Amino acid sequence: MRKFLTLIVILFAGIAISYAQKFPDLAPTPPMGWNSWNFYNCNINEEKVKRMVDAMASNGMKESGYQYIVIDDCWQISRDKDGYIIADPKKFPSGIKALADYVHSKGLKFGIYSCGGKLTCQKRPGGAGYEAKDAQRYAEWGIDYLKYDWCNSDGMASQVQYSTMRDALHKAGRPIVFSLCEWGSTKPWLWADTVGQLWRATGDIQDRFGIGHGVMKIFDEMTKIRQYNKPNAFNDPDMLEVGNMGLTETESRTHFTLWCMMAAPLIAGNNLATMKPDILSILTNKNAIAVDQDKLGLACFLWNKTGDVETWIKPLADGSYAVCFLNRSNNAATINFNWQQLATDPDFHKVYNINGSYHLFDIWGGKELGTTQKPITATLKKHDVLFVTLKKQ
Ligand code: GAL
Repeated sequence: MRKFLTLIVILFAGIAISYAQKFPDLAPTPPMGWNSWNFYNCNINEEKVKRMVDAMASNGMKESGYQYIVIDDCWQISRDKDGYIIADPKKFPSGIKALADYVHSKGLKFGIYSCGGKLTCQKRPGGAGYEAKDAQRYAEWGIDYLKYDWCNSDGMASQVQYSTMRDALHKAGRPIVFSLCEWGSTKPWLWADTVGQLWRATGDIQDRFGIGHGVMKIFDEMTKIRQYNKPNAFNDPDMLEVGNMGLTETESRTHFTLWCMMAAPLIAGNNLATMKPDILSILTNKNAIAVDQDKLGLACFLWNKTGDVETWIKPLADGSYAVCFLNRSNNAATINFNWQQLATDPDFHKVYNINGSYHLFDIWGGKELGTTQKPITATLKKHDVLFVTLKKQ
């Protein structure tokens, strides 16, 4: 009898443990995709989403690694009498399942949005208390990615709410990337690596460069928690504003560079169907993306600061490096950088010695720049970067 009881206990513990986990290896490198919020806000519908799907599937983004098309807030309207979520029939007359099928038919994956609180940030029904039903629906619809927000969650514990949803997703059985969005309010980098594949670590990005909660402010917040970044568990500095109105083309390129240097999720947030070719070429630069997608998942650290120019370095899996010279100032600035100086990673306590024997490749210029045997000199425009890789000779 005792043996039997022990067996039962082990069995139940086993079941509990098997649900208390996230799906393994869904994001070995930072997820790449597009999300509706930065460009459309609440004004989203199935036609617009399909236009973005068609653009991504045909403009080179898909081949560059972008996979997820994610609808953010405002797709949902109410719950039925059994508590299942209902999509707004005016905006999504064909229903979410049909849209997911459409996305899949183009070889892409489909993401959706909800919230751990009672209501979403735009006051649509949230997930609190309905986790199992929502997860079941998402699995039936063929959802591949869930962004889970944190509005209207007064009195709730983030770790509990997000873990409940993680378990519900796992139980529903369809592998779904789980993207936490509690804005860094309860330090998810300390606990969420067992809950989701990525977590927002700051408030919402603003479509600006050096002012407000724009690109530079977020970069500064994120580099303080860089040590928590790793495969399948990424700090998320929020979706890209590349190509949106508030940034010059140079600033868009710098923004993209910094996200690649941080090994950040690359979730475009512009209108993919109408963007200029120059913006598309930023979003699809294969060498920049290779830096972002490097399988170490290491975020950059500061190597040097001279005046307004900072030098950031990101070690890559094959023993090469990505280096970004960043001009923060509102004026042009010159770089004169000697590669011999040691680069000390302050968080992992590693010292890198670039020993004069690396080839330099200018990622945005698309050309070789000599070797690290000589100091590098260049002039950077206001808010510009020089983004290079260093490969062994
Ligand atoms: C915010 C979130 C944004 C967007 C918005 C939708 O909380 O950070 O990225 O999802 O809600 O209402």
